[in-house]
Amino acid sequence: MISVVVLISGSGSNLLTLLQKSENPLYPAKIVAVGSDKDAPGLEHAELYEVDTFVVNPEKSASKEKWAETLLANVLHHQPDLVVLAGFMKILPANFVRALKGKLINIHPSLLPDFKGAHAVRDALAAGSAKTGVTIHYVDEGVDTGEIIVQSEVMIEQGDTELSLHERIKKTEHELLASTIEQLAYKQLPATRP
Ligand code: GAR
Repeated sequence: MISVVVLISGSGSNLLTLLQKSENPLYPAKIVAVGSDKDAPGLEHAELYEVDTFVVNPEKSASKEKWAETLLANVLHHQPDLVVLAGFMKILPANFVRALKGKLINIHPSLLPDFKGAHAVRDALAAGSAKTGVTIHYVDEGVDTGEIIVQSEVMIEQGDTELSLHERIKKTEHELLASTIEQLAYKQLPATRP
């Protein structure tokens, strides 16, 4: 059984799937805490499942590095084996990333290296792509550049809006994130590091 801290900034639908999965005693990962950079709606899922939460707002810190230090202290307090960025929309500075090297993964709504950044779904639609998808990757010091663990394609349909496409991508994300964490817990994936 591995201990997982999840960081979110938004609605937390990926988090909710993980909380539901970890209710099953056969699922090999337990969510021990959920953190955010703000009072994100998704924190309610954690509260419902009686999982510890913490909020570390960058606007209340003297610098980005100081904010990351405090965020890191909150994460490490829970002694996680794995830290999952599930819709965490702040870029984490090097001091945070280095301290969690090999233990920090991110889910991103595109087939990286295509459409990095905060508007991946919108950008895929604007580019007129026929398909996009989901990437789960280790986090390094760049933005969406870390070593890819797994990807899954999602076709873009005629008439898709950013909302409809993102909803479909999220369905793929939920399954892929849960199964990837399961495989990492069983160490079925190569133990390569960013
Ligand atoms: C997810 O689609 C995730 O891939 C994306 O934010 C969404 C969070 O949804 N992350 C990024 O765009 C990171 N660059 P959720 O809060 O419903 O899980």
